[in-house]
Amino acid sequence: MSSLVPPSPKRLPATLALMALLVLFSLMMLLVALRELLPAAQPPPNSRLLAVLDGVMAVNTSPSERERVRVWLSAGATQDGLPPVEALVANNCASCHAPGGEYPFVISMKDLRHLARLAEPSGATELLPTRLLHLIAFPLVFLLGCGGLLLRTRRPGRRFLSAACALAVFFNAAQWWLGQGRPELLWLARAAAGGLVLALAALAGAVLWDLWAEPRQR
Ligand code: HEC
Repeated sequence: MSSLVPPSPKRLPATLALMALLVLFSLMMLLVALRELLPAAQPPPNSRLLAVLDGVMAVNTSPSERERVRVWLSAGATQDGLPPVEALVANNCASCHAPGGEYPFVISMKDLRHLARLAEPSGATELLPTRLLHLIAFPLVFLLGCGGLLLRTRRPGRRFLSAACALAVFFNAAQWWLGQGRPELLWLARAAAGGLVLALAALAGAVLWDLWAEPRQR
């Protein structure tokens, strides 16, 4: 008898709860991916670039330079940009933010556009900062899922699967901020997110298998 003890009346609610969690998680990831892959036509009003230029990088720009960037942003932050903005990247940013220099790299209009289209946390998202999600919420979901459910099933290879989940969570926690403002590392962050969804799907699949397996297999 499995320690999950799924008498038939409890199977269905447990299954539905697991499926709901899986769908919710995948939807969240999909939304994030869509936001990344289909960037807004306009940079968000709370653009990361503006926040940085008015904040820590204010010392490296003049008010008139920041004004130029604002004009470029409100014109849609196009790839071609405006000659003054291109000059600004080359003269003001690249000197410090070239490979081997400060993180993140800002050496081309492409890098500047990337920063422009990232959103600073707003009031609503500040309540649940991305950092908190990746470093605490996701690991907790998987810890409960692996320790509370997966390891208690009879699924062959459950320890291996738990270890793979732990690895996916760790990879995700380590990579999510590496991609922030670093276009060249975005693929790593995406791979980590994909791995997390796969890990959760495998976890849910194994637990469901245990819930619904024929009694003779127990
Ligand atoms: C004199 C060198 C220098 C110049 C010029 C410079 N930066 Fe920086 N930048 C830094 C340093 C040092 C840091 C790290 C400071 C910190 O995090 O407090 C930094 C940090 C940043 C960050 C990360 C901030 C964060 O909070 O994560 C961004 C984005 C950035 N710079 C963009 C730019 C842009 C855009 C320009 C051009 C307008 C620029 N920088 C010009 C030295 C420079």
